[in-house]
Amino acid sequence: MSVVITGIGELTTNDGPPRTGAALVLDGDRVAWVGPASAAPAADESVDVEGRAVLPGWVDSHTHLVFAGDRTEEFAARMAGQPYTAGGIAVTVAATRAASDAELAGVLRRHVAEAVAQGTTCLETKTGYGLTVADELRSARIAASVADEVTFLGAHLVPTEMSTQDYVDLVRGEMLDAVAPHVGWADVFCETGAFDEDASRAVLTSAADRGLGLRVHGNQLGPGPGVRLAVELGAASVDHCTYLTESDVDALAGSDTVATLLPACDLSTRQPLPDARALLDAGATVALASNCNPGSSYTSSMAYCVATAVLQLRMSVEEAVRAATWGGARALRREHEVGVLREGARADVHVLDAPSVTHLAYRPGVPLTHAVWRKGERVR
Ligand code: NIG
Repeated sequence: MSVVITGIGELTTNDGPPRTGAALVLDGDRVAWVGPASAAPAADESVDVEGRAVLPGWVDSHTHLVFAGDRTEEFAARMAGQPYTAGGIAVTVAATRAASDAELAGVLRRHVAEAVAQGTTCLETKTGYGLTVADELRSARIAASVADEVTFLGAHLVPTEMSTQDYVDLVRGEMLDAVAPHVGWADVFCETGAFDEDASRAVLTSAADRGLGLRVHGNQLGPGPGVRLAVELGAASVDHCTYLTESDVDALAGSDTVATLLPACDLSTRQPLPDARALLDAGATVALASNCNPGSSYTSSMAYCVATAVLQLRMSVEEAVRAATWGGARALRREHEVGVLREGARADVHVLDAPSVTHLAYRPGVPLTHAVWRKGERVR
């Protein structure tokens, strides 16, 4: 089944400058052709988008969607002045352990469907609310049945029933052995109160020994070793980056590690906002992701992240859109096939109910998703 999309107002491909007067042909799950509308080949179906903007689907490279329970009260307390401490993770761990597989899969599917309806076509999600071998394993299996990319985050928090040393040994050993076959990535929450530099390095190197790619939660709640460690170990991405020193920025700029910014989380936890300009101006690769989770960032809206990045992080619209598409793809090392519209790429297409991507920031909070194709299938 092929489809030609015509009537495109502005086409963002991440493969050269934005185009006007272009058309796009999808064939099966791939992009088959991009070029001037006047030369577009025929296809089984033709869709005229009547002057709307077309871009790659969002690539949300950081979510925590295998969970149960609700933390509305924690959020309300925060808005009343309580600080975010990450201690609430334990609340979600208790609810997740008590939930059935079917409940966890239902919550995950509901959130992924919500994201897809808003233009997200490639999504990573993590374990990390199980924290036992059995609960991390079933979290990974459930995640792998839905998400494009799955990350093992056994090192999210030390569960109350264990000592740090015993838990780190468990994560590096039996837990990784059980979960590794079901995931592509391993992550560590490298932060005061979670895992220190030595524990983080130990978990990450054990994961790398099993062939997993590395990601790090770093520099979220204060300055710390997360960014430096991520760069040292060649992690694909270090996520949060809220508190960066000049040397962190320089290290990122001189590396292949993507700085993944999560502005919805910073706003929801009343943290400062990351210095996106310093990163971009230094030459670092920046991604934007939702960090959708029930505690620190309960939104699946990548459009909200893009609007925030433009309005509050001083990114240009083009930088923000690229960071939420190509940047996320790069953070997942999938930039050859997602976050880009070129021949051979995955047919993940987002049509906005607006003539240009500028409207994402110009009209913040307005639902602008008109149509979505994921792997060539019209899903909205
Ligand atoms: O990325 N920082 C650690 N993990 C999540 C928070 C999860 C939670 O509060 O439940 C994050 O913000």
